[in-house]
This record gives sequence, C-alpha cells and structure tokens, in this order.
Amino acid sequence: MRTPFIAGNWKMNKTTSEAIAFVNELKDSVKEINDVEIGVFPPALAVVPVCEALKGTNITVGTQNLHWEESGAYTGELSADMILDAGCEYVLIGHSERRQYFGETDETVNKKLKKALAKGLKPIVCVGENLEEREAGKAEEVVKTQITDGFKDISEEDSKKIVIAYEPVWAIGTGKTATPETAQEIHSMIRSLYADIFSQESADALRIQYGGSVKPDNVKEIMAQEDIDGALVGGAALKVDSFTALAGFNG
Ligand code: PGA
Repeated sequence: MRTPFIAGNWKMNKTTSEAIAFVNELKDSVKEINDVEIGVFPPALAVVPVCEALKGTNITVGTQNLHWEESGAYTGELSADMILDAGCEYVLIGHSERRQYFGETDETVNKKLKKALAKGLKPIVCVGENLEEREAGKAEEVVKTQITDGFKDISEEDSKKIVIAYEPVWAIGTGKTATPETAQEIHSMIRSLYADIFSQESADALRIQYGGSVKPDNVKEIMAQEDIDGALVGGAALKVDSFTALAGFNG
C-alpha cells in the first residue's frame, strides 16, 4: 500500500563531477528496481546536472534545504522556485544537522514546510531526539512536539504529500542504529499522532522513513517493521554498491 522510499542524503559530500559520475553509474545499477522509490539529495551545486542525468529514470532528486521566502536578500539560500526549476521533486526539511549547527527550529521547519507545500515541492521532514533526551525517557515527547509545532496549520490535504524521516540524533553517523523495535515504537507513535492531527486516511498513507546508520546489513530487519516505510541514509548512500543494495532490500 505504501511504496517504500529509500533516499540518500549526501550532506556536504561529492563535487559536481563526482556527483555526475555517481548517478550515471547508479541509474544503471538500480534500473530493474521498480517496487521501491529511490531518491538522492545532492549538495546544491550538483543538483542541476544530477537532475539532467536522471531525467526519465526511476530516481527522484531533491535538495537538502530551502528558504521560506519567495526571493530576496537571503545570502546563501535557495528558494522553492529555484529548486523546482532545477528539476527537483523533493526537499529535505529540518534535518538534525540543520537544527544542531544552523539554528533551525520547529518554527522555521513550519515556515519551510508551508512554502514547499504551497509550491508543490514534496517535503521530507526530519524529526528525532538526541542522546540526552533519549536517556531521560523523553524521546516520544520530543518527537511529538517537533511534529505538533513543525506541522502547525498544515491542511489535511497537504498532510498527504509529506514524508517524515525519524532519525534519532544519537544514531546518525555513529554506527549505532536504533533497534528495529525501538524505531518501530516511535514510528507507530508518529502514525497515531498523524491520525489525531489530520485523519486516519492521512496516517495510513503517511510514509515514515527511519534514518541513522542504515546499512545493507541491517536494512532488511528495519524495513520489516510495520510502520517503517523507508530509509533516509547518509554514509551508506555515498557508494554505488551499498546504495544499490539498500534500494534493492526487497529483492
Ligand atoms: P547516516 O545519516 O546514515 O550516515 O547515519 C543519516 C542521515 O543523517 O540522514
């Protein structure tokens, strides 16, 4: 019912030439996979040629960020129109690294989310607790607040266009994955919260990715959980062979 979605967040990795070489190889290695949606999130400079190289393939493209204003004096930022014009379908919003290093809050996440939806860009909104919060037993509460505040004033219709990525901060790039059961607990909480805020229909359709040290050797057990509908992958998405293995977890 929910098409699994495996996405690679490249973060600040790969020059434009490296990105082009990578996707040219990737598009051949994943071309037979048709039961999983595959997406890449290259650094901004590489987005235009990556979209060109992936036209007509089964790989979608997005940026790692956007600004909520239409245009103007916002040095270093990307507008929704620029992202759409480049050929992107998706945008990542509120990644924990953006929250941690660049001051993003649930309020800015909300502004970005509204802009993306108004423009027809599909958002992947990232949520997740840090180690201190997890150890204090506050994981659910933190994620709940991130969603309640980050998704303020979103319509039920728009709620169906959003993907959520649950990424416990302590599992990102650390090699420590949440156990499939721990991840499942939060995913199922997110789905019922979505039903409370929007509707059961929206909750049933919502795709929730897990992120945090997903690798070819743990992807199957993670994806086997009822409420895990995909993965947002950093490190293991940077090599063609491991990303292909992740995208092909079903096969
Ligand atoms: P990781 O990153 O797979 O390297 O842990 C995940 C992410 O930040 O999306």
